[in-house]
Amino acid sequence: MTTVNENAEVSVDEAIEKVQAKAGGEKTSYDAQFRVWRGDAEGGELVDYTVEVNEGEVVLDIIHRLQATQVGDLAVRWNCKAGKCGSCSAEINGRPRLLCMTRMSTFTQNETITVTPLRTFPVMKDLVTDVSFNYKKAQEVPSFAPPEGLAPGEYRMAQVDVERSQEFRKCIECFLCQDVCHVIRDHEDNKESFSGPRFLMRVAELDMHPLDALDRQHAAQEEHGLGMCNITKCCTEVCPEHIKITDNALIPLKERVVDRKYDPLVWLGNKILRRAN
Ligand code: SF4
Ligand code: SF4
Ligand code: FES
Repeated sequence: MTTVNENAEVSVDEAIEKVQAKAGGEKTSYDAQFRVWRGDAEGGELVDYTVEVNEGEVVLDIIHRLQATQVGDLAVRWNCKAGKCGSCSAEINGRPRLLCMTRMSTFTQNETITVTPLRTFPVMKDLVTDVSFNYKKAQEVPSFAPPEGLAPGEYRMAQVDVERSQEFRKCIECFLCQDVCHVIRDHEDNKESFSGPRFLMRVAELDMHPLDALDRQHAAQEEHGLGMCNITKCCTEVCPEHIKITDNALIPLKERVVDRKYDPLVWLGNKILRRAN
């Protein structure tokens, strides 16, 4: 084992720098170029900053350093700094990401890092957006409705059904998938009729629940705009919880809706029921 003492010709810092230089030519601390969007609902612009970066830091650390040293009124939303609260969502170099889970080592030391607010939702100030669209859509999905005659404690379901929905339960409601989905990102007027991947996934989860008594498939198509999703999978690509939103929730839900629509027995049953009403 090698030790470094006061009499050594190289200091500890110099030794670390030399080892790192050998490993990849990157320094422990350096000044990074940041371009951060500043403004409010009325408008704004990208502003350039030079800010110190230390080893092991994430983009949120740098935004906090900017606040502490240069722009005290820079607005950013965050809570846990652990990838669990879903509140620090923003766009880094144009890609929706969590500020607290994006390591500075992802970027080269001489690249300019651009941080902008989520594009799909209205800006409140700087990096903070108004995400209330998502809470409104959440309210439009009725919660689990158990079958009549069963009291809590009497619900029974197979383990395989429990496990299927566990993946969807990892959602931290960061709304990065909602932000990236082109159906609402590029078309403001679709917001009324499209709930977005996060809430279509919730509908799919409830539709897969063997004890849920509501007609989720009809609601998915008629109220939440399932048909507008053209399975581009962009939502899956940005999900920090690595939930396979498209493959495991949206596509199976689409398949069930189509099966029902084109199954002659179901079609006949619906027709008879409608006549009876
Ligand atoms: S797969 Fe569907 S919900 Fe996901 S981003 Fe594409 S269009 Fe939107
Ligand atoms: S599904 Fe993934 S990307 Fe979408 S809100 Fe949940 S955690 Fe975020
Ligand atoms: S601060 Fe909680 S997810 Fe980033």
